[in-house]
Amino acid sequence: MYRTKTCGELRLVDVGKAVILSGWIQVVRDLGAMLFVDLRDRYGITQLSFFENKYGELTREAKLLGREFVVQVQGEVLERSSKNTELPTGEIEVQVSQLTILNESKLPPFLIDEKTDGGEELRMKYRYLDLRRPPMQRNLTLRHKVTLETRLFLSRLNFLEIETPFLIKTTPEGAKDFVVPSRVHTGNFYALPQSPQIFKQLLMVSGYDRYFQIVKCFRDEDLRSDRQLEFTQIDCELSFVSKEDIYSIFEGLMRHLFASVIDVNLGEIPRMTYEEAMNKYGTDKPDLRFEIPIHTLTDLVSVDGSDFQPFNNSEAIFAISVPGMADYSRKKIDHLIDWVKKPQVGAKGLVWIKYDISGGIKSSIDRFFDKTSFQSWLDACGSKPGDMLLILFGDRSESLVRMGMLRLEVADLMNLRKARSYAALWVTDFPLLEWDEEDQRYQAMHHPFTAPLDRNLQYLDKEPQKVTAEAYDFVINGNELGGGSIRINKPDVQLRVLKSLGLSDQQITEKFGFLIEALSYGAPPHGGIALGLDRIMAILGGGTSIRDYIAFPKNNSARDVMIDAPSKITDQQLKELSIEVMTPLNP
Ligand code: AMO
Repeated sequence: MYRTKTCGELRLVDVGKAVILSGWIQVVRDLGAMLFVDLRDRYGITQLSFFENKYGELTREAKLLGREFVVQVQGEVLERSSKNTELPTGEIEVQVSQLTILNESKLPPFLIDEKTDGGEELRMKYRYLDLRRPPMQRNLTLRHKVTLETRLFLSRLNFLEIETPFLIKTTPEGAKDFVVPSRVHTGNFYALPQSPQIFKQLLMVSGYDRYFQIVKCFRDEDLRSDRQLEFTQIDCELSFVSKEDIYSIFEGLMRHLFASVIDVNLGEIPRMTYEEAMNKYGTDKPDLRFEIPIHTLTDLVSVDGSDFQPFNNSEAIFAISVPGMADYSRKKIDHLIDWVKKPQVGAKGLVWIKYDISGGIKSSIDRFFDKTSFQSWLDACGSKPGDMLLILFGDRSESLVRMGMLRLEVADLMNLRKARSYAALWVTDFPLLEWDEEDQRYQAMHHPFTAPLDRNLQYLDKEPQKVTAEAYDFVINGNELGGGSIRINKPDVQLRVLKSLGLSDQQITEKFGFLIEALSYGAPPHGGIALGLDRIMAILGGGTSIRDYIAFPKNNSARDVMIDAPSKITDQQLKELSIEVMTPLNP
């Protein structure tokens, strides 16, 4: 028997018991005649003690133990003379009478502890060591709890977990596909699913009226802290449902996860249309932990008139009123001005108006407008003494997005995005299509299987930009956690939507012929949602990157530096796949 107890479970009540523990050596403290060792497994840390005068040879042997050696010890549980209140096992220690080294370890490249001295790249290269650290073990344990609770919750509501294939044909979700060459069918490729979208809809046609799957999806896109090439969705689809049914079930799921996993009550979950979100917050995923809405000053400013050219040449002028920012120093404001001019933000400049706590008004454009104008703008924005008005101007839609970014930046500066506070909402009524400048055609905003509002169908052929979709996103703290829609279940409507995306009849038949045919065999009304599990984890765990909640993620340049992937394959493999052997440009 390797162990009778884990390293996390012994307490004062166990004093006097004989136990066997196995684990990794965290640290050895050699005090000469006494030696203390912290033994670690995934359940915790237990202090081992070795006494020279009692077990001389054993203690001398223990002095040779190194960090991360794997050992088995036998001994007696004793009450500690100096207790460690920070450790659950801190009131006891195990006095060792037998020691077996199960395996030695090279010196680890970084500290395997709560905090580590290892940089990101090193931790990724030795991910199996990083995963020994308690924070990573907590994260993966939390993830298990979330998937377990999800399965229980959905199963209780009659959902069936059904697997769908990975080697498929391209599914349009807006990213590039990962493709897999077929050895048998020379020159042909499978695509890995960007989501199980089409298959879950086909399951509805088959009558499995409540489906879910905790499933890997693959998207070849640029990585960020909330994006991986392969990530996991809680993917769901239901038949005979309205949007309201979906809101209610998945609000239920999210409430259940927050309550059962981190003991947080999500409270009422408001709804906001896409249009309102864009106009008021400059984004379709607003962070509602703080208010600071965007106000439009365009008309007011033009009435006030001046020869301040940047305003006169602008399609739109927007402002936010930031509480408590009026005492911001000149240096800090200059910093903010530099920030809005960064290429990632792209504003030409930032105008500010300080509304002093005493009621005085000062502005960066004092020379161009009088105090009455400023006062009317402040009033329009509901500003109070102590606030500062920040104004951006230019192209309407670009300025709104910039304002949305500035709003978040300011909230970070003013510490308004509080950790451990949660503001969830549904964003609804997305446009069905968006114009793609590069390709000069419309793209589906969600995916091409999303149903248009019935009453908007009339616009589909001539004015497609006017069509609203039956689509929704679930957002928390400025993160898009999930998205879905009611689907098209009539073949003729599906055909019209695909045509509005500029696809020819032939392309439609090639790519989606099977789906249109399936819809013509009695497809029930259906809809669904996919929640991003990795993002849910980062929110629940309070982390900043989804990487910390994935056992073996890719790094930011899309590489697995531990196994060194992607990597070359042999000429033999290439030949088998009938792929031309590539000769390097500079041999
Ligand atoms: P969508 O593309 O919005 O919808 O994806 C659903 C959710 O998946 C998460 N997500 C990601 N997480 C990590 N890395 C990525 N690269 C990544 N991409 C997406 C997000 C997102 O909200 N089939 C539809 C759903 C439906 O209509 O039912 C779909 O995949 O949290």
